[in-house]
Amino acid sequence: MKRIEFHNREKEKQEIRNILDAEPSLITFVYGPINSGKTTLITHLTCELSEEYVVFYINLRTKFLSSYDDFIESLFEMEIATDRTVRDGEETLAELISSATKITGIPITKEFIDYVFKDNKPKNAFSYMIKLFEEVKKSGKQPVLVLDELQKIGDVKVNGPLIYELFNFFIDLTKELHLCHVFAATSDSIFLERVYSEAMLKGRCRYLLVDDFDYETTAAFLKGCGVTDEGARVAWEYCGGKPVCLVEFINCGNREEKTKEMFTFRIGELETQLKLVKELGDEITIGSKRCDVHYEKLVSALKMFVKREEIGMNEVDEVSKRYLVKENILFVDPLTAMIAPQSRLDLLAIREVMEIA
Ligand SMILES: Nc1ncnc2c1ncn2[C@@H]1O[C@H](COP(=O)(O)OP(=O)(O)OP(=O)(O)O)[C@@H](O)[C@H]1O
Ligand SMILES: [Mg+2]
Repeated sequence: MKRIEFHNREKEKQEIRNILDAEPSLITFVYGPINSGKTTLITHLTCELSEEYVVFYINLRTKFLSSYDDFIESLFEMEIATDRTVRDGEETLAELISSATKITGIPITKEFIDYVFKDNKPKNAFSYMIKLFEEVKKSGKQPVLVLDELQKIGDVKVNGPLIYELFNFFIDLTKELHLCHVFAATSDSIFLERVYSEAMLKGRCRYLLVDDFDYETTAAFLKGCGVTDEGARVAWEYCGGKPVCLVEFINCGNREEKTKEMFTFRIGELETQLKLVKELGDEITIGSKRCDVHYEKLVSALKMFVKREEIGMNEVDEVSKRYLVKENILFVDPLTAMIAPQSRLDLLAIREVMEIA
């Protein structure tokens, strides 16, 4: 079986290393378009870190989150609790973290389970985590908390919205206590916009973009995997620097045919999505308001990409923008206030579909 090695990301890795070298003081939001390599970067870097760091990694992607209990289960991984994360009641917190440096989920002893589940209070879970991180510190190591796909918390409510409790907890861990580094990753740019405009986070967080590879990185990646110059030209033309797409390209037998197939498939998906809105209509929820999605407005938003690769965030009406982001067609970068298609393939497909729309 062919295994494709992790490629580059030197700049991003250095940025994260610099953050880890200093005392925890700000929350780091790792963001970027879908499939740009955020999770891969985080997991790769985690493996490279010295024993000095204890990384607690939680990926909410596959978790069903609709209540406080779901949230707690996703943090503490209760379903596999008996043999992995929940240890014997006799074990102390210090013993619990004594040898581990890379941990999926938050380990917990039986002694504390009732406490974190009690009264539906996120504060109980958070104060347990602070205790655990303090033990890590006492053992001479630096705790690092990583929450991947943070947007999944989005609408969970525990008395009030859970996300605010979580942000307060993150601020506590970083700016207030300087106890634990916090990284939160997301590819949901509407969620990121919300984070970016959140008053409580002003001056308390930083943003780290993990974008698709640029041309030089893409060319070097393909060359390292034995792709010819002509092959690399075709890959860049269709896939741009989207790692997942490049991996698919490298792995397939007939590469030219594969790119055409990916392109035709994406065109088909886009046409179907637009056809559905045209024939049946659609709606999205913004705050507590349900809003109609209009086919004509979607088309005029997409037509802007016929001549341009990116547009200003406010050139598109809010409903169309949110719909196209939700459908993973467009990506909004709140830091530059620009909108672009999620990938080069999406840009080309949009242009093709808009020719006949
Ligand atoms: N630096 C890299 N070197 C080699 N392959 C990579 C690299 N980054 C990403 N990939 C490939 O791209 C795929 C998608 O990456 P990954 O899942 O990390 O993206 P993501 O940004 O976390 O996606 P999502 O937006 O869905 O969270 C990986 O499974 C891997 O095959
Ligand atoms: Mg990911």
